[in-house]
Formats: sequence, C-alpha cells, structure tokens
Amino acid sequence: MTGRGFGHGKLILVGEHAVVHGHPALAAGIAAGIAVEALPGDGRLRVPAWGLDARAGDGSEVGRALAAIMRRLETPALDFEAEAAIPSRAGLGSSAALAVAVARAAASASGRADTDAAIDAAVAEAEGVFHGNPSGIDAAASKSGRVGRFVRGRGFEPVPVLQSMRICVGLSGKPRDTARQVANVQRLRERLPTMDGVLALLGKLADDAAGALAIGDIDGLGRVFDAAHGLLVALRVSSPELERLVSDARAAGAVGAKLTGAGGGGAVIALAPGHERDVLRRWKDAGFEGFTTEIAASPGAAT
Ligand code: MEV
Repeated sequence: MTGRGFGHGKLILVGEHAVVHGHPALAAGIAAGIAVEALPGDGRLRVPAWGLDARAGDGSEVGRALAAIMRRLETPALDFEAEAAIPSRAGLGSSAALAVAVARAAASASGRADTDAAIDAAVAEAEGVFHGNPSGIDAAASKSGRVGRFVRGRGFEPVPVLQSMRICVGLSGKPRDTARQVANVQRLRERLPTMDGVLALLGKLADDAAGALAIGDIDGLGRVFDAAHGLLVALRVSSPELERLVSDARAAGAVGAKLTGAGGGGAVIALAPGHERDVLRRWKDAGFEGFTTEIAASPGAAT
C-alpha cells in the first residue's frame, strides 16, 4: 500500500486575476515541482524543504487540506513524504502542486480506478482551503505540465508553442497571499467599476500571448508581458520588490517582464533571450534569488 504522485509548479504567463472574473489566462506547468510518496501511516505530511510537518485535521491550513483530500479519495491510513523543488508561497503554484502530488500518491496507494475526476475534486477542495474561491488555473497547470489556456468553468486547453524558450524567474522573498490579493481586486472593482475593463484587457492579452507562442514571436510575447504588468500595477497587486525585479530585468536586457501569480509578493517572470545570465546577476546583486526554466515547444514543433 504505497504510491507516488507528482505535481508541476506553474507560471501564469498572462491573465492572473482576470481569470478569477471569467476571462482567459495562459499558464505553463514547469518541469520543477513536488514529488510525493504515500506510505502506510496515520495522516502525516512532511515537506522537509519547507520545514513543514502537518497532520490531517490538526487545524493548520495544510492539515485541513490534507484531511479534505483523504476524505474525498477515501484513502486508507497513509503518511506522505514530499520532495519539493519549488519554493512555497512564491507565486509558483506550490499549494496546487502539493495538493496534486498528494492526491495522485493517495489515489495510487489506494489502487483507485476512477482517479481523474476524484483527484480533481480532491485538489479543488484542498485549494479552496488555501485560497478561498480559486479559479482552478493553478491546479490545472500543475496537473498538465504544459502551456494551456484556462477559462474558469471550461478548463485547461493546451496551446501550441512553436519554439522552446527560457524564462527567468525572480523571487521577491515576500510570500504571496492569493486570497488577500483576490479580495483587494474585488474591492477595487466595487469602488471603481472601470477596472472591469482592465480585467477584460488582461484576458485579451492572454490570447495575444497565445498567438505569439504559436508563431515563436518572443519579442511579441515580451511586449505582452510589459503591457500585462502595467495592468496588474493598475490593479494594485504589485509591490516595491516586484517593481524592482521587473525594472532590473528590463535594464539587464529583458524584452519583457511582469509579476506572475497573485502578486503582493511572490515572483516575476522575464524574457531575455541571450541575456538570461545578465538578468539573474542583476537580481542577485540587488539581493534577489532567481532561476531559469524552459517553456518547451509542443511535440512535433521546431525547437
Ligand atoms: C493565482 O496563481 C492566480 C489568481 O488569478 C487567483 C486564481 O486564479 O484563483 C490570482
């Protein structure tokens, strides 16, 4: 009675926050993620890389999410050991990746046949514990590991990527707080209904980004990143650290940069063909950690 599961980390390329309000967003599952092993036990979850040790139902958020997954999947008594290759609460989909990996490991340990829909329901309930009323984009990207267009209630459709590309990811060092940022955007909409137009534009930019990926137009995608970041600033979800990361990336040669995920803290992404090392060095000099990850070309496309 053992099992394994994996959940990809994710980057929202364009359309965070817009997706909460029914507009499209474009997200990429990345190679780095969380691997979980399920073993006979009594509902303990350990993630040593994050210093996390929780029990199903211990009252913590993780404990409540774990209890929800075990209840939904009707798992027998299991413990979960997780190896995390992405930081927690950095805007890279850590909670969704953990939920997906735990649910997949639990389902495989229980030998369930009806896995996909049951895993989706378990992950959605766990994500609800962390983020209130999430759109579901993080869980979908974490499961798929590919680039896809997501619309709330309609799901995740892989989109073609003509040419693989490297993306620089810069970490602000401040945790993101998705539920709070989503609530702040909602309050802003109520006070300033014109902001609905900003959210709709962000959704349109997600489709522009998909168009650029389909023809391998990295400069075009960079322009979309810059425009999307401007709109996210207008939605007031940026921060001094995120602004510094974005302007440093541009100064080091990026063709486009934006915050990714809920904002407030978390991460930025930058496209800097041929200048990735310059971007990482500049961030490091300013005291920020960063790394690069690849968006892979679709199978069969040129690389
Ligand atoms: C968080 O990764 C993305 C948000 O759009 C929230 C959501 O979609 O649930 C900010």
